[in-house]
Amino acid sequence: MNMPQQVLLRDAMRQLNMTRDAFAERIGSRRRALDAWLLPDESNEFRAMPEVARRFVSEILASSGRPIEYTQSAHDGALRRSLHVDGAQHLLSVAQFDREAIDELFRLADVMQPIARRRKVSRVLEGAVLANLFFEASTRTRVSFGAAFCRLGGSVCDTTGFTFSSMAKGESIRDTSRVISGYADAIVVRHPEQGSVAEFARATNVPVINGGDGPGEHPSQALLDLYTIQREFSRLGKLVDGAHVAMVGDLKYGRTVHSLIKLLALYRGLKFTLVAPPQLAMPAEIVALVSRNGHVVETATAPARALAGADVVYATRIQKERFAHDEVLEGFGQAFAIDRALVDASCRKDVVLMHPLPRDGRPGSHDLSTDLDNDPRLAIFRQTDNGIPVRMAIFATLLGVDKLVSRSMRDAAWTPPSHIGPDDSSFHGLD
Ligand code: NCD
Repeated sequence: MNMPQQVLLRDAMRQLNMTRDAFAERIGSRRRALDAWLLPDESNEFRAMPEVARRFVSEILASSGRPIEYTQSAHDGALRRSLHVDGAQHLLSVAQFDREAIDELFRLADVMQPIARRRKVSRVLEGAVLANLFFEASTRTRVSFGAAFCRLGGSVCDTTGFTFSSMAKGESIRDTSRVISGYADAIVVRHPEQGSVAEFARATNVPVINGGDGPGEHPSQALLDLYTIQREFSRLGKLVDGAHVAMVGDLKYGRTVHSLIKLLALYRGLKFTLVAPPQLAMPAEIVALVSRNGHVVETATAPARALAGADVVYATRIQKERFAHDEVLEGFGQAFAIDRALVDASCRKDVVLMHPLPRDGRPGSHDLSTDLDNDPRLAIFRQTDNGIPVRMAIFATLLGVDKLVSRSMRDAAWTPPSHIGPDDSSFHGLD
């Protein structure tokens, strides 16, 4: 089966590391034509790419030494190899990834888009059971992992909260891991202790995904964040190499920023501006790791001037639940609220505003403001939507059905809404 044109084009731009403008020039087409080829099939502005252009793109990839067939081969690709941990397949940390593995995962996420957009259905995981074990609060991570598994035809068993689990009766992580492995074919674990998910994975051969281990890591979130940045940048004509990324808020306990900055550090020549009150600064070992890779790291204790020039502003919630005492946060206040006034005064006109969510909307929380909700620069819901194709791609690879997905797709029998949110301009907002 022919690879969908959107998947081919996005893969080619990623592999050649080209902006849309540069790529359009390379293949001798107009940028507007390329934009129309990249839109989802159901969009009114979508246009089919001429066969000659498709052949030309494949030739360019082949002559660059990166033929498109590479990612479709039956051999273990970079992605499968990176998920290999102690004889099993797990996703525990972003340290498992290199750029080649990321490109493969994102190509597969692009393949998943018609399913995520509810135009197609697939049953490649029919009969498989996911255990979603969340020993800490969660809404989107738990539900999106569950939905991603279901959309590939699998079924999901959930447990939520520590108090209602056998761990509250003193059961070890090892015992829980062995028990659940007898019930499920993949396991997502969120746990309040750093390192606990890796411990869980050591006790099983069933694939384990780290859904957040205390202040440690949150690799699937970082992958969907990077996928979002790439898609937003593709529209804006930018590359991740050379980007300026500002991270704001609780950089000490925020596991999403720990994982994201390490993943971004795989690219070249980035500038990071880390904005946090002094007590919540990014851990020194992570700053050292990023600096060693040749990136510029600047720090600031308030957003106002620090956000100038940033291509991405990634805001985070203060992780009060991880504080040892009810600490008073000196140096943290209204100045940290990312709202329209601050963005208009301090940010680039084409800034991408991100947040892993949930944002804390309670008085005094000084988080990302809702007064930006209708602003197209706010990418937070495109970010959450992207969690589905990225998590589907993770499951398909871990369970070895990645090569079967394209062939397995059928048209959905029901009619999905044309816009998910009433304020979205299309199914997933901007494309
Ligand atoms: C985050 C988490 O749990 O680490 N949320 C998420 O998974 N999207 C961020 C947070 O709780 O602040």
